[in-house]
Amino acid sequence: MAVPTETFYQFPEGFLWGSSTSGPQTEGTVEGDGKSMSNWDYWYSIAPEKFHAQIGPKDTSTFYKNYRKDISLLKETGHTVFRTSIQWSRLIPKGTGEVNQQAVAFYREVFSEIKKQGIQLIVNLYHFDLPYCLQEIGGWENKEIVYAFESYARTCFDLFGDIVDTWITFNEPIVPVECGYLGEYHYPCKVDMKAAVQVAYHTQLASSLAVKACHEMNSNHKICIVLNLTPAYPRSESSEDKTAARLAELFQTKSFLDPSVLGTYPEELISIVKEHDLLPEWTQEELDIIKENTVDFLGVNYYQPLRVQAPSADSKEKLTLDSFFAPYDMPGKKINPHRGWEIYEKGIYDIGINLKEHYGNIEWLVTENGMGVEGEEKFRKDGVIEDDYRIEFIEDHLIELHRAIQDGSNCKGYMLWTFIDCWSWLNAYKNRYGLVELNLESQERIIKKSGYWFKELSQNNGFRK
Ligand code: GAL
Repeated sequence: MAVPTETFYQFPEGFLWGSSTSGPQTEGTVEGDGKSMSNWDYWYSIAPEKFHAQIGPKDTSTFYKNYRKDISLLKETGHTVFRTSIQWSRLIPKGTGEVNQQAVAFYREVFSEIKKQGIQLIVNLYHFDLPYCLQEIGGWENKEIVYAFESYARTCFDLFGDIVDTWITFNEPIVPVECGYLGEYHYPCKVDMKAAVQVAYHTQLASSLAVKACHEMNSNHKICIVLNLTPAYPRSESSEDKTAARLAELFQTKSFLDPSVLGTYPEELISIVKEHDLLPEWTQEELDIIKENTVDFLGVNYYQPLRVQAPSADSKEKLTLDSFFAPYDMPGKKINPHRGWEIYEKGIYDIGINLKEHYGNIEWLVTENGMGVEGEEKFRKDGVIEDDYRIEFIEDHLIELHRAIQDGSNCKGYMLWTFIDCWSWLNAYKNRYGLVELNLESQERIIKKSGYWFKELSQNNGFRK
């Protein structure tokens, strides 16, 4: 009988292993901490029933209080890199102007502690969380917010630039556009293509201004944007389906990828936007800022592919994204049964090769990938969650990532979503993603099987399968 052969997947020297999280999803708030309401706090205050089990952003995983313990868990699970974000509403409660000194002390302690543990730190400025007072004056539809963000970014670089040298401008900027201006999963829950285009353009301009500020203030600091570069695969080879896939990528990935990395918007996107009278208010000076301030590297979040087909004729009546492409439910797809999402490991390879071939082989990191599981407590054995499905999920994606690197893609690290079960927007704690379990009642933290496995992965800089 043939003995199955195993391969050791060795990653390049210095490859980073770690995870990502965000301020609004972990910190929680405590009375008197000086934080103001973010758009999420406000939304929860008026519509708590929208949030799973009515758990709101105040009750996230108490990192604000327990950060020392959590940072020690980073070490125990083999992290060599970690990403979190600053909450704008904590640092500058009124959106502009006065800085909350308690927030400065908190973030300085957190960042110093992470560095003290020898973990590389990457800090994101914006993870879907706008101070609510800025939403009240129009949010990202209002150009003033762009300049408020620039000033917030400069404050962060000034306050923490001595500890943090690697920054992120925005996490998944297309998500608030799609979910908040073309859908109802983020506040302000509008469906308005014109507003969506304006918000997307303003966000890109804000990101480019932050890149500019970062380089002006510390020429040796690096800054990136994190994009969910979900590849779109057509249902068939028909030209209608292929066009739908091209348009899906144009709206959902190239709309930020091209200006952030190449400094320009794709011609086809500009002409579609023009044709439908959706052009945002723009100036040549702003386009020059975008052109001249591209990112140093890229963060990529990848969970599942987008399968698309040509839209149906009736979806063209009122203009939405559905007028350009429709989702396709592919029969026989591999699925994560505990979350309902498709699993398609090769997507990560395709992303790596796309960046190599069309984006100057820019340096990139996987900044999110992971497996959400509902009802994970049923996998507990002798007190520990035996999440073999998560280990397998990570391994299978890493095999494809390894192949992309072998084929020349410039990936420098892999960061899981996430190190400890955290609060995930409207889904709250429904799906668990962590290497560490969080008990919601006692706030106890227990390392899962995957957490011990991840440490070995990091120590060996690879794994056998
Ligand atoms: C991502 C997002 C994270 C987290 C994750 C898992 O899209 O960046 O904040 O919620 O999904 O749901």
